Amino acid sequence: MSITTPGFWVVIPAAGTGKRMRADRPKQYLPLAGRLVLEHTLSAFIESPLISGIVVALDADDNYWPQIKPASTKPLITVAGGEERCHSVLNALQKLAERAGRDAWVLVHDAARPCITHEDIERLIAELEDDAVGGILAIAVHDTLKKGTVEHRIATTVDRSGLWRALTPQMFRLGTLTDALQTSLADGYVVTDEASAIEHVGLSPRLVLGRADNIKITQPEDLSLAEYYLRNRLENT
Ligand code: CTP
Ligand code: MG
Repeated sequence: MSITTPGFWVVIPAAGTGKRMRADRPKQYLPLAGRLVLEHTLSAFIESPLISGIVVALDADDNYWPQIKPASTKPLITVAGGEERCHSVLNALQKLAERAGRDAWVLVHDAARPCITHEDIERLIAELEDDAVGGILAIAVHDTLKKGTVEHRIATTVDRSGLWRALTPQMFRLGTLTDALQTSLADGYVVTDEASAIEHVGLSPRLVLGRADNIKITQPEDLSLAEYYLRNRLENT
């Protein structure tokens, strides 16, 4: 399969409430570099010629989505989210199964990562489209890692060699990922990323080196860093 072949779908979990952000609305609807966070995230995939369509999982009480007016020439489908991120993703995959086959590739990407680049999307697809399992964008850990006690004292220094931070997108085949998430949940394992579900069923996802500016907006100070990255990019294009 060549990189220009369509057949790559995107699932965007956007049904969280952003508690750690402590804002007056879910973080995906906060203003950022002239648009809303979710608009930046969506446009990266809408503009990518490799992507066939997008499924966005939204909170059932979401009143902000109608403000978003993405000009998309490709299918942009919404679905109700669930209790945790993994339930939102599973709902989106089940919706996608109405249009795509079990072999279709799905890239799951957090709504809260608006700085994703075309470069990262293209590298992930190029490296994984012939892979038997799939994989994720990730970055090797550079900081020295400490394991702390409940009293916040250092218990030990953790060897960081071989440790990676998991980012998104995470890319797997629709059928494999749906089955893995269902098995994980049935086993009482509420996974925080797709790779964990794939690992749970005994498979080993690939690690594809991602860019460090693909940050997840989690706490208030992350927003100004994202703003800096996006404005810098606009100035350089
Ligand atoms: N998400 C979702 N459904 C949920 C919980 C989270 O679709 N039930 C989405 C969020 O909208 C976000 C992504 O999953 O885009 C990553 O989750 P996180 O950064 O934890 O976002 P929130 O859960 O919204 O934030 P917090 O944990 O601080 O409340
Ligand atoms: Mg959360």
